[in-house]
Amino acid sequence: MNSVAVPNLPAPSLDAEKLTRLTRELESLTVAQLYWIAAWSAAQAAQAQRDIPAAVAERTAERLSIVYGSQTGNAKRIAEQLASRGEAAGLPVRLLRADAYPQRELAQERHLLLVISTQGDGEPPDDARGLFEFISGKRAPKLPALQFAVLGLGDSSYPQFCTIGRQLDARLAELGGSRLASFGEADVEIEAVAAPWVEQALEQARERLRQAGAPARTTPLHVVPSRSVWSREQPFAATVLANQRIVARDSARDVRHVELSLEGSGLHYQPGDALGVWAHNPPALVEQWLEALQLDGAQPVTHQQRTLPLRQWLGGEREITRLHRGFITALATAGGHDELARLLQPEQSAQFAAVLADEQPIDLLRRYPATWQPETLLAALRPLAPRLYSIASSTKAVGEEVHLTVAVVDYQAHGSAHWGAASSLLAATGEDGKMPVFIEPNERFRLPADGSRDIIMIGPGTGVAPFRAFVQERRESGATGRNWLFFGNRHFTSDFLYQVEWQQALQDGSLHRLDLAFSRDAEHKTYVQQRLREHGAELNAWLENGAHLYVCGDAKHMARDVHAALVDVIVAHGNRSADEANAWLGDLLQRGRYARDVY
Ligand SMILES: Cc1cc2nc3c(=O)[nH]c(=O)nc-3n(C[C@H](O)[C@H](O)[C@H](O)COP(=O)(O)OP(=O)(O)OC[C@H]3O[C@@H](n4cnc5c(N)ncnc54)[C@H](O)[C@@H]3O)c2cc1C
Ligand SMILES: Cc1cc2nc3c(=O)[nH]c(=O)nc-3n(C[C@H](O)[C@H](O)[C@H](O)COP(=O)(O)O)c2cc1C
Repeated sequence: MNSVAVPNLPAPSLDAEKLTRLTRELESLTVAQLYWIAAWSAAQAAQAQRDIPAAVAERTAERLSIVYGSQTGNAKRIAEQLASRGEAAGLPVRLLRADAYPQRELAQERHLLLVISTQGDGEPPDDARGLFEFISGKRAPKLPALQFAVLGLGDSSYPQFCTIGRQLDARLAELGGSRLASFGEADVEIEAVAAPWVEQALEQARERLRQAGAPARTTPLHVVPSRSVWSREQPFAATVLANQRIVARDSARDVRHVELSLEGSGLHYQPGDALGVWAHNPPALVEQWLEALQLDGAQPVTHQQRTLPLRQWLGGEREITRLHRGFITALATAGGHDELARLLQPEQSAQFAAVLADEQPIDLLRRYPATWQPETLLAALRPLAPRLYSIASSTKAVGEEVHLTVAVVDYQAHGSAHWGAASSLLAATGEDGKMPVFIEPNERFRLPADGSRDIIMIGPGTGVAPFRAFVQERRESGATGRNWLFFGNRHFTSDFLYQVEWQQALQDGSLHRLDLAFSRDAEHKTYVQQRLREHGAELNAWLENGAHLYVCGDAKHMARDVHAALVDVIVAHGNRSADEANAWLGDLLQRGRYARDVY
């Protein structure tokens, strides 16, 4: 290891913590890498000097900044639509992902449209963590000249619905900004809220930019990525090539390895991307609904200018497996159930969250009888949304195929069978069956461009899926960096997903380390985070040496526990305090060296 001497010069606004972090990072580099960094930093400094605030102020007065924070691509898609609409209208637009937004420009920003989703349990998407913290924090500048609008994306089946967007909207106003449009709160039916919000925000922005004397442009400022023929709105009918159960017969949960053909579609993906799948609801569940509702499935019902038999509405058009606030409200009203209505009060938020987590709508329909008009029912249900699955293959290894690892939602509760829409359909679709699919890129979950970098992959359960893709990709591209996988599940004998493949990969050298945690094989439960702690010294050494770190799988517990374990490891072996460890991980997250794909 090189020892990096701190130059004997004043380091303006570089506090001790930053300096320690910086020297520690530099210590792991070779002489050639240090020279490269020196040249690169000089270029960065020159660029920063060119971007002096006065010039920034002049530019920002005449342009519209559209910034998005997005985990699974929805906010990005809306922001891209917003940018192309703005450009088509002749507005000078710049479109930025939140982590590419230069925070020092916020103080000079004049016209800002922000599209952002809420993730985790009311957390910002990973690409917007830095910007969210900056705007929410004490160092945020006053923004008396800012005109802004925020569109929040969320899902009202989560207790913290659209929290992040709402907080940013309030904070920007608190800092002195004035709204171009009121806060937009989009549920899964994103377009219903996004379309009028985009319209209003652009109209207002156009007017303000005209007043500011911005020149109308006719040529786009940036290239909006071209879309392939097949998309979310127009999915490709992929043929199922294989559908295998990859857990033992006695496993508590059915997990499938599904292979689909993309032949002739022109669809491309990269390791880290997800496949979007449009499903329909289980027919048996639709019949249970009709019985509970006491309604005739054959009767035609008109909703939003479309007329279909009720059975078809419930089977292919509406969400009937996921509970959300709007449905509970409508059920409480339709049946006059005060107890349900009370659940929606803020003081019952814990009980409300428990109901959202434990029940499907059918459970409430059975428990709280009501007389429904079919039209009222449809208005209370949300449109069926596609489900995402991390892609478990690399095209370098499988050509025009895409592989998935699917945990089937099929469980007994409240005295009856329950299913998930997409996973049970995937499980039930045999060879030659068709599934409507599209690619959902995930730019933040990417292998390092430099194949000599080591990678650490933490993927218990179906979280292992993208790491199958990573290992295939690194094997096929001859990457020289080491690959370390942490995998966990319930039992070694029944739930070791892709066991044979991992053993082969260890033998052929495409996997260098595999650490396993089977939670229910011993008296005391063991999870991957325990393995992280056990191998902390090595893990820390890999990280200090520049390894990229990936976490995929359960968002509720695993991602949080793994993060806490990583902090412990860095404290124990990296000679940092817990705050420093957290800050370092935050930094890695920001720079894309720590990436999460959790659900
Ligand atoms: C980026 C991303 C990547 C993903 N990758 C994968 C992947 O690789 N593999 C994978 O299997 N999934 C993955 N998922 C999850 C996947 O998208 C679906 O959410 C999942 O398959 C369930 O969808 P479904 O349509 O089968 O169930 P849904 O129709 O959504 O129904 C599930 C409903 O049942 C409830 N429920 C489920 N289980 C229980 C239970 N035990 N007790 C009580 N209620 C329960 C839920 O709360 C929910 O209301 C990913 C998600 C994202 C966002
Ligand atoms: C793991 C996970 C957690 C989520 N948590 C929340 C939440 O707490 N509140 C909310 O309103 N929406 C939540 N959502 C829903 C997303 O905000 C919604 O799907 C949104 O359209 C995603 O936009 P994006 O693709 O731009 O990230 C969550 C989604 C996922 C996958």
